[in-house]
Amino acid sequence: MMPAMIISPKGISLDIIRNDFPSLRRMRDGKPPIYFDNACTTLVPQQVIRAITDYYEQHPACGGGRSRHWFAEEVIAEIDGDAAAEIEGSRQIIADFINAGSEKEIVFTANASHAINIVALGFPFRRGDVVLLTDREHNSNLVPWLRLQNKGSIRVDYCGTGEDGAFDLEAFRGKLESGPVRLVSMAYTSNVTGCTLPAKAIIDLAHCCGARVLLDAAQTAPHRAMDVQDLDVDFLAFSIHKMCGPRGVGILYGKGALLRQAEPGIGDDGEDAIEPVLLGGGAVHDATYQGYRLLDPPERFEVGVQNYAGQIAAGAAVNYLQAIGMDRIDKRETELNGFLTEELLKRYGDTGWFRIIGPREAAQRGGLLTFEIKRPNAVGITEELSARSSIMIRDGVFCVHSYFNKLYGEGWTRPKPPSEHKMVYRLSLYFYNTLEECRTFLDTLHDIFEERSYI
Ligand code: ALA
Repeated sequence: MMPAMIISPKGISLDIIRNDFPSLRRMRDGKPPIYFDNACTTLVPQQVIRAITDYYEQHPACGGGRSRHWFAEEVIAEIDGDAAAEIEGSRQIIADFINAGSEKEIVFTANASHAINIVALGFPFRRGDVVLLTDREHNSNLVPWLRLQNKGSIRVDYCGTGEDGAFDLEAFRGKLESGPVRLVSMAYTSNVTGCTLPAKAIIDLAHCCGARVLLDAAQTAPHRAMDVQDLDVDFLAFSIHKMCGPRGVGILYGKGALLRQAEPGIGDDGEDAIEPVLLGGGAVHDATYQGYRLLDPPERFEVGVQNYAGQIAAGAAVNYLQAIGMDRIDKRETELNGFLTEELLKRYGDTGWFRIIGPREAAQRGGLLTFEIKRPNAVGITEELSARSSIMIRDGVFCVHSYFNKLYGEGWTRPKPPSEHKMVYRLSLYFYNTLEECRTFLDTLHDIFEERSYI
């Protein structure tokens, strides 16, 4: 892949984009930050920071319709829109971003983990129901289901993925046909391999067998356009902090009928509707000493005073990404990853101690590049990259303990003799990364490998 092919998103100069990110203007020992840990969380542009500070400076009041005054009306308008003033609220911006049929299908949560827990704890499971996962789920889409299994409410089953991360649709069909699968809950894009599931085919098959589908889109939403109506997905969870937004804000999308428990006339879908797990102020329409009536969705799921600054800034973050263009973001990351992958494979690909986890082709991994090093003293490269060139990557198990325990044997991260070391490192790129940063990474890594006598 030639460097000349690497373009700036939507023709906006990359310098202008990078200038939007105050953290990219920092220097340490004369070196700028090189941030390749975007799958963990992304940097934040000034447009989003301004939205947060605007809330606190201009109208730091309650939203959710509690108060009817100057400041509160401004908060409500920024989150839920104001048709009279034609202000498009943050919730509508997010609904449009994933092509939800209504902004009422967008629930603000604290993050994707919170969103998944809302479904896990609120879904009307019957004893014996099976929840089907892949074998590479993040703890956030594994542990909530294991808890239900431990309580005897459900059984958890897994669909294996190939060594290159490929999803086996035929094996999936077999699982659906062999057990009472009630819900399929899978990472749309893996945070280890970067592979994206054939979601539409999965959802079609699941629906044919009467199962609902929850997609954990935490690693998809930041990188590519999604259309929940075209997918026909039942629930979708993602985190705004992985898409240039504030920390502590996530989204649960649910089909309208699945957010509202069955009522006369609502149809069969209501039978699979989730019940709100947390109740209290902001979720209730009316209450007496004997009972209560919940507000309509989404408010019934948003209990208590919310992170209004974050919810408003979530809309600013999505607007920022859309101004750049999701197709451009995807293309740029893949091009940078293509360059890195080609160089790494050229240099270390046939050595036996270097292995990319997932497919070799960057095109199938988006902006994610995870590799394994099996050499004496393989630990500590993350710290060295940071100390030498301010390069920030992540190592370890990326909250996917189950997969690595299967791959390497339980307890592989515990101290071992240096001769048995193996370590997994991950670069995760975003649209503000540059070719020059990739070259600095390659050169610094090469120096480290040379000093460790790996090459
Ligand atoms: N799940 C996030 C990651 O992969 C935190 O880094």
